[in-house]
Amino acid sequence: MGVQVVDHPLAKALLAQLRDRNTPPPLFRLLAKRLALVLCLEATRGVPTAPVEVETPLTRTTGARLAKPLVAVPVLRAGLGMLEAVTELFPEVTVGYVGLERDHATFEPSLYYSKLPPLDGRVVLLLDPMLATGASAAAACHALEKAGAEEITLLSVVSAPEGITHLHQLHPDVNIVTASIDEGLNQHAYIVPGLGDFGDRLFGTL
Ligand code: URA
Repeated sequence: MGVQVVDHPLAKALLAQLRDRNTPPPLFRLLAKRLALVLCLEATRGVPTAPVEVETPLTRTTGARLAKPLVAVPVLRAGLGMLEAVTELFPEVTVGYVGLERDHATFEPSLYYSKLPPLDGRVVLLLDPMLATGASAAAACHALEKAGAEEITLLSVVSAPEGITHLHQLHPDVNIVTASIDEGLNQHAYIVPGLGDFGDRLFGTL
């Protein structure tokens, strides 16, 4: 599947504020949630709908409801900054969690926690704000597919070209919705220009 860069002016403005090193954690959290709302709207654009009959004050008409349940899966801990946006837009969403940590020497992820609801027949929204090497996202997709996921969309705030390539090599069916494809990775596998460590900035653990 493809990569969709959300270039709505609101997404661009929110991203610029998130990148700003002087943005403090309380504001960072607010901006991250707002940007996640925009990404979530785009990510769910293709969700199938089914007709519903609605009685308006004037007449009967046909409306729509989602025909497939949604599951949101934040990657701990940074993905938590995107979760509230999804649960506000789609209150019926079920939520699973995947915990991955990155070895600071090898940059390889290891799965330390996984709690997932049923995934088959559902649209899975994987929340992982920084698609850097792609190793964590690929490990998360592996865990989701093993648990029965058939349709995964990754919502990422910032993506590196290396991460997109890696993820699509291992999981070609995963769709990526992102606010930016940045220049690339530095020697510490941080995205440049990026916004620094998303989890640290979100939770004030700088
Ligand atoms: N994770 C982050 O939080 N930031 C990066 O730049 C790369 C990975």
